[in-house]
Amino acid sequence: MKNGQKIIILDFGSQTTQLIARRVRELRTFCEILPYNRFPENTEDVIGVILSGSPLSVYDPAAFKVDLNAICRHDGDPMPILGICYGAQYISHTMGGKVEAAGTREYGRANLCDIEESPLLKGIGNGSQVWMSHGDTITAIPKGFRRIASTDKVKFAAFESGSEPVWGVQFHPEVFHTTDGKKLLENFVVGICGSRQEWSPASFVSSTVAELKAELGDDRVILGLSGGVDSSVAAVLLSKAIGDNLTCIFVNHGLLRKNEFESVIANYSGLGVHIIGVDASDTFLDALAGVTDPEQKRKIIGRLFVETFNAEASKIKDAKWLAQGTIYPDRIESLNITGKTIKSHHNVGGLPKEMNLKLCEPLKWLFKDEVREVGLELGIPRELVFRHPFPGPGLAIRILGAVDRESVRIAQEADDIFISALRKEGLYDKIWQAGVILLPNRTVGVMGDERTYEQAVVLRAVTSSDAMTADWADLPHAFLAQVSNDIIRHVKGVNRVCYDISSKPPATIEWE
Ligand code: XMP
Repeated sequence: MKNGQKIIILDFGSQTTQLIARRVRELRTFCEILPYNRFPENTEDVIGVILSGSPLSVYDPAAFKVDLNAICRHDGDPMPILGICYGAQYISHTMGGKVEAAGTREYGRANLCDIEESPLLKGIGNGSQVWMSHGDTITAIPKGFRRIASTDKVKFAAFESGSEPVWGVQFHPEVFHTTDGKKLLENFVVGICGSRQEWSPASFVSSTVAELKAELGDDRVILGLSGGVDSSVAAVLLSKAIGDNLTCIFVNHGLLRKNEFESVIANYSGLGVHIIGVDASDTFLDALAGVTDPEQKRKIIGRLFVETFNAEASKIKDAKWLAQGTIYPDRIESLNITGKTIKSHHNVGGLPKEMNLKLCEPLKWLFKDEVREVGLELGIPRELVFRHPFPGPGLAIRILGAVDRESVRIAQEADDIFISALRKEGLYDKIWQAGVILLPNRTVGVMGDERTYEQAVVLRAVTSSDAMTADWADLPHAFLAQVSNDIIRHVKGVNRVCYDISSKPPATIEWE
């Protein structure tokens, strides 16, 4: 799967470490993020090392330290190293140069000047824009090292060692504002480290299918399908490897989108995936009757989901594995300022212990957009691969107050009109997530000659890159007017439509 080549990114706690990894993957090169103090013993397949930035100064008593000489000469051959920001300052500091506090924090755009010829800066010219963000600055580079680029404020913006394959840049090549950042990383990863650029969705699919075949043999595997992208791609990948030895369980809690249960089953059966649909709508809706507290709703749904899934999974007597759609960002051990790593915990849904299942996570090395690329490579329709995120408790947290069959019907109908219109007008893919919130109170209206007293719905659509922050989507007024019209005309029980113009923070994406 890793094509025998990988870049190690040692994480010193920078917020942009994952971005470095994304850029390296875009160069079709496998890479792994490891905490700064976990450089692997076995470096057979490691072709280079990148040292990330850090929130700390090299002089901080708590500064994260590694033995660069040991990394450089591990296993004999010199290992190419690129230090970014703190990484560059750490190289300079530990190899005999000097790092001092900059008078003022160097932050924002700058332009490279006085560029010297160097394999790291091949194809990058004077004037190229870079992004700086550091409080310390290098005032002297180690003996034998050479300055290869400056900016008007930073003399040692980039440097190289004359004798070892060691480079440092005080700017951030991984961020968008560094115009030639990708070129610089390509110079390092491909030009200097010698990546063959063989990492691709197609190579991932063929090598992972082969690995899964070898690892799982004739074992039976269970997978909980949520209808979301990750579990779907994991399901199709596994089914390609082991066919009907994979059983997918898809639970309908009655709070899915309109016709979603039927369409998921039809879609995945069509893709050759062995899928069991469990319609437990009545159980869930009965248990939710009269419950208005959102956390209480979540708890009830979570508990019933585990019970329903377990009951079905326990019927597969000889199952040996539980497969999950865990992806790489879920597993990267984040580093906090004390240098302690926080391990992510696997949630195996509290499956009965006696089932004694081993965990299989075929997407554990992929970033989200790579999961999507792999999905397309596997032949999953675009519409499924690029679907918006949808919360596990489904419409229960979009129906404010108590949930019943009638409120689910209204929420499903209104949501279907909104989402279908977004698709029809080519707006769906421009949006991170959209849905409809059903308010519990009634409002007065007139329909024909009649006074109405019905519910109001709120359209919610946001743009985002990770759901941590989100902006309300500036949808065209004519589009909103049409959706409002269609909902009020076609969804019985609704006489008013509002549009949510709150961003996150301070609001959240969901209302509950
Ligand atoms: P918020 O509302 O916190 O949502 O801005 C951020 C993202 O998380 C989703 N979300 C949930 N997903 N169970 C889930 O599986 C939940 O209880 C839940 N609550 C929010 C939300 O849809 C958005 O993508």
